[in-house]
Amino acid sequence: MQILKLGGSVLTKKHGFMEADTASIAKLAAVVGRAYKAGVRDLIIVHGAGSFGHAPVLKYKLNEGVRTKKQTWACALTHSACSHFSSHVTDALIKAGVPARSMPPADIAKSKNRRIVSIDEKVVLKCLKDGYVPVLFGDMVPDSVLGCSVCSGDQIVAYFARHAKRVVMASDVDGVLVHGKVVPCITRKNFAEVKRHLRCSGAPDVTGGMEGKIRELMKVRAPAYIVNAKKPARVLALLLGKKTISTRIN
Ligand SMILES: Nc1ncnc2c1ncn2[C@@H]1O[C@H](COP(=O)(O)OP(=O)(O)O)[C@@H](O)[C@H]1O
Ligand SMILES: [Mg+2]
Repeated sequence: MQILKLGGSVLTKKHGFMEADTASIAKLAAVVGRAYKAGVRDLIIVHGAGSFGHAPVLKYKLNEGVRTKKQTWACALTHSACSHFSSHVTDALIKAGVPARSMPPADIAKSKNRRIVSIDEKVVLKCLKDGYVPVLFGDMVPDSVLGCSVCSGDQIVAYFARHAKRVVMASDVDGVLVHGKVVPCITRKNFAEVKRHLRCSGAPDVTGGMEGKIRELMKVRAPAYIVNAKKPARVLALLLGKKTISTRIN
């Protein structure tokens, strides 16, 4: 099985408030469609929430917990926005010939202090077995300490990665950059050095940005790649097991 993460930074206008990037979604859906036609069937897609998640979470301060009536209302609104957005991504995938099926993490994941403790992965794996391509996404999930908390797409990828032969994280950069150049490979040996070159993306982000992404991928045993989703041919190459410009983690 392969896992493809599509970054919220590419699928949405990340500086906006709940704004999808429809053209970019269609391009990436077409690439997944091509991979699917070429025989990539065993695939789970996880996508970020971008400005459908980060923006309302910051506006309503949901990162500190969901307890009051107002926070509960705001959490419902945020989850609904993320779900609607995921339906939009799923529709684009279906149009591109992929039998995609949106599966809201809010219904199947449980967290404790912002970390996933369990996902009912049986329903996801059954969906895959039945011939669908499951689509999960960054969402507000029940949290035993905080009431509800943000669960990043990156964290969901790491959770499912033990089943994967390859993880492809498509973001809005050519890979992890040091002095403007793509680092071909990050391991425990050079992580500390690379970490000094990680900056905030400048866009609202409540899940740790590039550093959070690398930390999640360092836990993954399968080969994991950070690749530029704005260059869809590179995403396709990785899904087909070919080499391309990217950063390999581990
Ligand atoms: N050294 C670095 N190399 C590459 N990207 C970096 C680096 N430091 C910070 N970033 C930022 O990380 C961002 C990608 O992370 P993020 O915004 O969380 O993307 P996604 O929406 O794909 O999860 C890039 O847009 C970039 O601005
Ligand atoms: Mg991110």
